[in-house]
Amino acid sequence: MDKNGLLKLLHSMTLEEKINQMLQVSGFYFEYEEEGILTGPMNQAGITKRELDTAGSVIGIAGAEKLKKIQRAYMEKHPQGIPLLFMADVIYGFKTIFPIPLAQGCSFAPGLAREGAETAAAEAAAAGLHLTFSPMADLVRDPRWGRVMESTGEDAYLNSCFSAEMVKGYQGEEGLDKKGKIAACVKHFAGYGAPLGGRDYNTVELSKRTLMDQYMPAYASAINAGAATVMAAFNTLDGVPASANKWLMRDILRGELGFEGVLISDWNSILELIPHGLAETKGEAAKLAMEAGMDIDMMTTCYSRHLQKLVDRGEILEELVDEGVLRILELKNKLGLFEHPFKDADEAAEKVLVLSKAHREKARKMAEETLVLLKNENDTGTHAPILPISPSRKVAVMGPYADNPHTLGAWALFGEARDTVTLKAGIQNLLRNETMDSFPVFAAGCPILDDLDKVEMPEAEKEEILQQQKQRAALLAEAVDLARKSDVVVLALGEHYAQSGEAASRTVLNLSQGQQTLLDRIYEVNQEIILVLYNGRPLILPEIMKKCRAVLEVWMPGTEGGNAIANVLYGKVNPSGRLSMSFPYREGQIPVCYRQYSTGRPYQGEAYKYLSQYLDCPNEAFLPFGFGLSYTTFSYGPIRLNRRSMGKDGVIRAQISVKNTGTCEGKEVVQMYIQDKKGTVARPLRELKGFQKIDMKPGEEQEISFEITEPLLRFYGAREKWTSEPGMFRVYIGPDSTCTDFEEFELLSN
Ligand code: BGC
Repeated sequence: MDKNGLLKLLHSMTLEEKINQMLQVSGFYFEYEEEGILTGPMNQAGITKRELDTAGSVIGIAGAEKLKKIQRAYMEKHPQGIPLLFMADVIYGFKTIFPIPLAQGCSFAPGLAREGAETAAAEAAAAGLHLTFSPMADLVRDPRWGRVMESTGEDAYLNSCFSAEMVKGYQGEEGLDKKGKIAACVKHFAGYGAPLGGRDYNTVELSKRTLMDQYMPAYASAINAGAATVMAAFNTLDGVPASANKWLMRDILRGELGFEGVLISDWNSILELIPHGLAETKGEAAKLAMEAGMDIDMMTTCYSRHLQKLVDRGEILEELVDEGVLRILELKNKLGLFEHPFKDADEAAEKVLVLSKAHREKARKMAEETLVLLKNENDTGTHAPILPISPSRKVAVMGPYADNPHTLGAWALFGEARDTVTLKAGIQNLLRNETMDSFPVFAAGCPILDDLDKVEMPEAEKEEILQQQKQRAALLAEAVDLARKSDVVVLALGEHYAQSGEAASRTVLNLSQGQQTLLDRIYEVNQEIILVLYNGRPLILPEIMKKCRAVLEVWMPGTEGGNAIANVLYGKVNPSGRLSMSFPYREGQIPVCYRQYSTGRPYQGEAYKYLSQYLDCPNEAFLPFGFGLSYTTFSYGPIRLNRRSMGKDGVIRAQISVKNTGTCEGKEVVQMYIQDKKGTVARPLRELKGFQKIDMKPGEEQEISFEITEPLLRFYGAREKWTSEPGMFRVYIGPDSTCTDFEEFELLSN
């Protein structure tokens, strides 16, 4: 349909029909309707039949057959026959689940994230979906917040690379109506990643400079990549909840960032303007959200019940409603829904695509690149590094993740544990055809959780854990016995998936007491311990790591996790992940990130008291951003700049030669950090401004080159504009954010 057609359609609608285009309801209501239980749950939520028959979009259900049926029935009833828009959280995969985004950040391979998004889109589109609520572009620096798992990490530059590639992966670059493409939704605009104390939904206090300079770039990058929609955050910014924040939505999002697509509130967030204390009634909440420019009201009836009255009373202009509705119709049009209301929904294609071999391979490959080797000491038996595991070693794989399919993370809405390759299955797949003196043995060792309070999971899963809790002593005894009889113990420990994610903030970032005891007791009888750590956030590891010869961080690795981890443990794949988020020494250090300021009293190792330091803990992270080991080693030559100064249109090339000095092929992530030495506002000690992941054979040497141009040096300056300031800059290049070699250049003022 062309623009005129859309306008004609808009003008043919009654005000009520227009308003209901802005209403988003749960897909379950349609299922209830079908099952004839319309009255119960629907009444509780207060949705009427009329609203359901004219609501513009649906959230949270999928499946080609089901969605086609709903669409068909809906369109027959709808006065203008306008199709529904089906949306859902396809955050890191639809059925083929990829590693969580925090892990994807560790791949330092945004191209892989793009492939992951393409794969997710292909499956989701075949299952009838039109839009995913991804990417989450929130910057995160507080691991107490459970949703760090949904972000690609603590760095604005890294996140910007990922958010753009994910958008391109979901949407393609040739139009949303193309086969296998779905619309992306950048969230949560803005600053949701910085709730005070790491407590979900809490107030956010960010200076405008920090908001713009640090939090804005990844959203902006996704928007520049063409993201069709944006979701407002739950939190307040400078006292105003995002859903009612006119400045944020109209001046910044629409004005400065030039976003022209659909803006959607988060789940229930318009109604939450009441507990926030901004509105007293649903009508007031609707008015505030409308004024801020929310086009879609997710899961409340604030708009559908109150906008009409507000327009009748002249409190909201009908033009404002029209603007929002037109954007929604435009999105439906871009997706091609007026011509093809089912879009790619196709039962046969869904069957073929979902969890296909090709998709599983992509998930496995991505998982392999996200694993971060944090430590690798020598095995006292062989005197060689304990990883990769030598096939002659007698191995016991133990811990609650030794054979546990619940490794999909907290936002795998459509993923199923039964499709997941566990660590045990992965190791068995890998070693099936090997001739070995002894095959690894497996044991759980302890339940994953000591306490099921406040963690949400299906009843059957709870029951399993309760059963294990009853057998606690026997499980521990079995594990200690196996450890005693083995050369090497692979201990697969970590958080339960429900301990991270939404509404899963924690103040003590540890393992459960049961898991800690398992580690301690095994250590008493066998110190050749390889820890495989599953988690949705950085944990506090100093004491735990002391007891382990090697540590492999595997996050929540997704459907193919077991195969990927087995490949790394046995050396078929060399680990190449680098941390996308710093690991603190302890919780009191939080927030900790590599991007720090000097302060007026920088601590540089002196024995002097009045410096910016802790009495009981270093300032830096325990494991820094960008850090990760490999089975090989790399050496870096000196940094070379092709010139020492440049004007605003100039380019400086920073070069370095990197060599694989070890004995096996491996991937290195070469990282470039820049420091702006003096500014009209304090500038950080360094910021990531480039990275390249390179694959090198043993002995191979490569010349790596980064281009530095003026836009790379811009920041949100003293005059509240993105600007660079002439002066001296330092360029660091190395293997992680603590690298020390640098060169300097000058940005000239012309
Ligand atoms: C979350 C969003 C999500 C939405 C829809 C909310 O609770 O904050 O990230 O997309 O629910 O499921």
